[in-house]
Amino acid sequence: MLKHLLIALMPLALFACSKPDSQSQAHQTSAANASYSIASPDGNNVLQFTLSNGKPLYEVSHNDQRIISPSAMGFVFKGDSDGFGPMDVTGTSEISLDQTWQQVWGEKQGIRNHFNGMSVDLQETTGQKRKLSVEFRAFNDGIAFRYLYPQQGEGGLVIMDELTEFNLTNDGTAWWIGAYQDNRYEYITTESALSTLDKVHTPLTIKTDKGLHLSFHEARLVDFASMTLARQEGTAFKADLVPWADGDRVKTDGSFTTPWRTLQIAENAGDLITSYLILNLNDPNKLEDTSWIQPHKYLGIWWGMHIGKYTFWESPTHGASTQISREHIDYCKKFGIDHLLIEGWNKGWTPAWYENAMHMFSFTESTPDFDLKTVTDYAKENGVKLIGYHETGSNIVNYRKQIDAGMALYQSMGVNDIKIGQVGSRLNMKEWHHGQFGVRYYREVLEKAAHYKLAVNFHEPIKDTGERRTYPNMMAREGARGQEYNAWSEGNPPSHTATIPFTRLLAGPMDFTPGVLDVEIKQGYAGRDVHTTAAKQLALYVVLYSPIQMLADLPENYDGNPGLKFLQDVPVDWEDTKVLNAEVGRYITTVRKDRYSDDWYLGSLTNEDAREFEIKLNFLDANAEYEAQVYADAEGITWEKEATKIAVSNTSVKAGDNLKLMLAPGGGTAIRFKKL
Ligand code: NOJ
Repeated sequence: MLKHLLIALMPLALFACSKPDSQSQAHQTSAANASYSIASPDGNNVLQFTLSNGKPLYEVSHNDQRIISPSAMGFVFKGDSDGFGPMDVTGTSEISLDQTWQQVWGEKQGIRNHFNGMSVDLQETTGQKRKLSVEFRAFNDGIAFRYLYPQQGEGGLVIMDELTEFNLTNDGTAWWIGAYQDNRYEYITTESALSTLDKVHTPLTIKTDKGLHLSFHEARLVDFASMTLARQEGTAFKADLVPWADGDRVKTDGSFTTPWRTLQIAENAGDLITSYLILNLNDPNKLEDTSWIQPHKYLGIWWGMHIGKYTFWESPTHGASTQISREHIDYCKKFGIDHLLIEGWNKGWTPAWYENAMHMFSFTESTPDFDLKTVTDYAKENGVKLIGYHETGSNIVNYRKQIDAGMALYQSMGVNDIKIGQVGSRLNMKEWHHGQFGVRYYREVLEKAAHYKLAVNFHEPIKDTGERRTYPNMMAREGARGQEYNAWSEGNPPSHTATIPFTRLLAGPMDFTPGVLDVEIKQGYAGRDVHTTAAKQLALYVVLYSPIQMLADLPENYDGNPGLKFLQDVPVDWEDTKVLNAEVGRYITTVRKDRYSDDWYLGSLTNEDAREFEIKLNFLDANAEYEAQVYADAEGITWEKEATKIAVSNTSVKAGDNLKLMLAPGGGTAIRFKKL
């Protein structure tokens, strides 16, 4: 039976107190054997810390179910192979918060940060008598903890291993991608028994045999290696920090604060998506002026390169020419999509640009067929904002030399958005993208971008751990297989977009680049197509949250397409989000309310299987009439047969009505509920 250290809840207030003697409800038999626990505000999630013969352990339970059995904590430092010796508890303190903060932009405007927490200070009883503190937090939607190691006079300190264990009590189904692979996070998610995994990336999503939905991840990853999870035996996992090329895991100046190790706990799959625990564990916004940060939709000179219509490099079919740029600006104006991404306008692209090598891209010089000033002026005249692009090819040495000049150039052109790519298996052909080297690099670029008033879209990124709360210029990133895989590989299976909302997207917004309505890719490579229906492509704009959404197809494929109207209407900034039904890897129906109108939008999609849903419209305002503008799969189609056909219909609805959705195999439905 767990002994709870009950922490009184003070709404809208934060309190903290130091309790060196730690009496109260904590159970402490001696300094070397002690036990403290906290419960979430609703009492459902309990985190217990125990010092057992001087060894720190933690465990987690949800209602009466133990989820994590006693699991080890701590570190091994360089030159000290055994880790910490026996420890004492030297102090504890408590903290509680119930506060609602506003997102600058987001999937929900007001986020409630509500938790009970405690901090436990430890010290070795022998040897160097080193100190270590652990902070714990229990939220209604999960738990988190992190370590703080104060400066103790050693100078530089290298972490060789983190000993944190996650000893899960039950097996279950896991959705995962393997860590330490050359294509970073860009793999199809595998679904398999938890007890069969090896080393995996987070977010790691699990449905336990008892029916609980769990997601392991981390929050506030700053100047540390990212954490992967390595299975030890059965369902016991251990933190596995991504190393530097020289084998060190984390280089510190003698003190460090780890990212939060997080476990989101939900009764159903949809509640994982509407959990904001990761954001709540990040620091508040540091940018005073955010007026230049603008969620938006955009067209691009992009898909054409991926399907082989254009080239990135100088050639008779070079995509980023002045002429083709002007044509795209004309399309932006015609469609009312006011941002345009132009890739490949700069020198340095070759047909082998993506191969692992220290490619030398220029970030300021344009190709002879592209006139930056002409294109910039033409965009301005037509009310279109250009999105800057930096492909580093993972040559970070080259990028660091030019980054200021490249960003300053964009700033001088009035550009406020930049996509930054890191194609390559290792940064500088040496370091993992997700080791401490990468974590430092991506943060440095993000801060520099804020200096030049540029909002960032990272491709080949470090995983998202909630930085957007602190730096709202961190808009979106890739970090999974995006749409482009459909252009030149065997493609993403229909289940892919029914899976990533519960895995990759739990970390934060993704630049998936949806909206390819010519799913048969008529102008592309033979045998390649998008494994969805066109209506499902529309549903992605609601299901896959991002404050920037590309209309990824060739612009001519939107002209006259019945789906274009939905893409023009659908917002990118939301007041609220709800998940109406969901099963990981199978299906999901999400509704979101526009931040700037009374309209709601729905996106529903399925894997390979056809589905029928009866949706209760109880999210709409009572006593109001809405026009439901429905974009559904045309009758009889599948993702393999006549997949481009969208059936558009309009019907009057009100709160409480039921609406039937019919999803084709690999299909979806998108709806705008326009308040009348
Ligand atoms: C990979 C990115 O994901 C893609 O969007 C981009 O077009 C290419 N790299 C070229 O930089």
